Amino acid sequence: MIRVRPTRATDLEHLDAIERSSATLFRTIPDLAWLADDRTAGPEAHTHAVEQGLSWVAMDEGDQPAGFLIAAVEDDADLHILELAVGADHQGRGVGRALMQMARHEAEARALKALTLTTFRSVAWNAPFYARLGYEELAAEMAPFYLREALAAQAEHGLTDRVAMRLSL
Ligand SMILES: CC(C)(COP(=O)(O)OP(=O)(O)OC[C@H]1O[C@@H](n2cnc3c(N)ncnc32)[C@H](O)[C@@H]1OP(=O)(O)O)[C@@H](O)C(=O)NCCC(=O)NCCS
Repeated sequence: MIRVRPTRATDLEHLDAIERSSATLFRTIPDLAWLADDRTAGPEAHTHAVEQGLSWVAMDEGDQPAGFLIAAVEDDADLHILELAVGADHQGRGVGRALMQMARHEAEARALKALTLTTFRSVAWNAPFYARLGYEELAAEMAPFYLREALAAQAEHGLTDRVAMRLSL
């Protein structure tokens, strides 16, 4: 049983380390290994998500944060997942899935129309995972402006093979 709860101010100091630890998984893909040393979401993004009630942490056996998910409401309609990260020592045990489930509950509770995200199309723990949760690829020309903007910013940052995905509620 994985406990997921809203992020508290006292959790914030752990989140950057979790994100850095999570990204070490990309070292297994030579073309994406640089992501392990890339910039992180940063404290402002986390504080803002907490203020919006759109940040959750999954707790480990020692009651310490093992993973987090932060999101934003876009166009008054979509719960957009900004970042999902699970520390390397905790991956592959259902923590990511539990955090995604929490985001879905929140979107339903807010009567939103969909959940969205951007991710790598061909990384095993990215698009294929979200597809198994019911997310579908959105053609860039069909995507709302905020998603096209996110993809453009990512391309500018050197990220290729990115895709926008949507789960309709
Ligand atoms: C993506 C991530 C959050 C998943 O967290 P997790 O706790 O390891 O995931 P879970 O154990 O809940 O597994 C989720 C699914 O991914 C698959 N998966 C997890 N790790 C995997 C790996 N290394 N290789 C292939 N598939 C993997 C699992 O088989 C599982 O599939 P299923 O639930 O459909 O059977 C985690 O891998 C991570 O932090 N990755 C680095 C950062 C990242 O890619 N974030 C997402 C950005 S869009």
